[in-house]
Amino acid sequence: MSVRIAPSILAADFARLADEIGNVEAAGADQIHVDVMDGHFVPNITVGPPVVAAIRRVTSLPLDVHLMISAPDRYLEAFAEAGAAILTVHAEATAHLHRTLNRIRQLGLRAGVAINPSTPVDVLREVANEADLVLVMSVNPGFGGQTFIPRSVKKVALARTLLTTAGSAADIEVDGGVDVTNAGALSEAGATMFVAGVSIFRTPDPGEAIRALRRAAGTRA
Ligand code: DX5
Ligand code: ZN
Repeated sequence: MSVRIAPSILAADFARLADEIGNVEAAGADQIHVDVMDGHFVPNITVGPPVVAAIRRVTSLPLDVHLMISAPDRYLEAFAEAGAAILTVHAEATAHLHRTLNRIRQLGLRAGVAINPSTPVDVLREVANEADLVLVMSVNPGFGGQTFIPRSVKKVALARTLLTTAGSAADIEVDGGVDVTNAGALSEAGATMFVAGVSIFRTPDPGEAIRALRRAAGTRA
């Protein structure tokens, strides 16, 4: 399976966002990860549909929009119109996850389901065939630059087994504290998409950081 690197703009310089995105695009990033936070589901506030629409205009890469918001159903259309390619909702944030994922697909987007570190992978069982990707949070969501939770490697493996059993080849994305020291183990466990904020944007050479992360993740047979 191919490895995809998704720089998280949360760690970028928002005053120079177009330049920062242009740099990682030129360096081979596969998609741009946009963290949407509402100050309710998580204790931080970031950006909404107008910023996603602005980013859409400055890159040709797919926009991987991670909704850390309560009751995300209210905003699916808005983010679809803004140009998201992937919309990921948290299993903990919506009462009707099956319906939410189907709605995202109806909008023509890839549907993702994210789980917090304290949420067991079992919550994915009944929606395994409604999800195009599973996002395993490897930190508690809300902030960039946090320390990777080692148990996440095991959770990725459990999620991969669950998906395979359900007949799903969905992507598994891992998000939070991802860097060259853990990308190999995550890949071995079944992760295919690697979100990275600080370990890409807060380095002297984001392009080299992307290449190093891709090498660390390698390609699985
Ligand atoms: C955390 C966000 C992440 C964050 C990752 O709530 O979902 O996408 O930006 O940042 P790093 O890679 O710095 O941990
Ligand atoms: Zn994220």
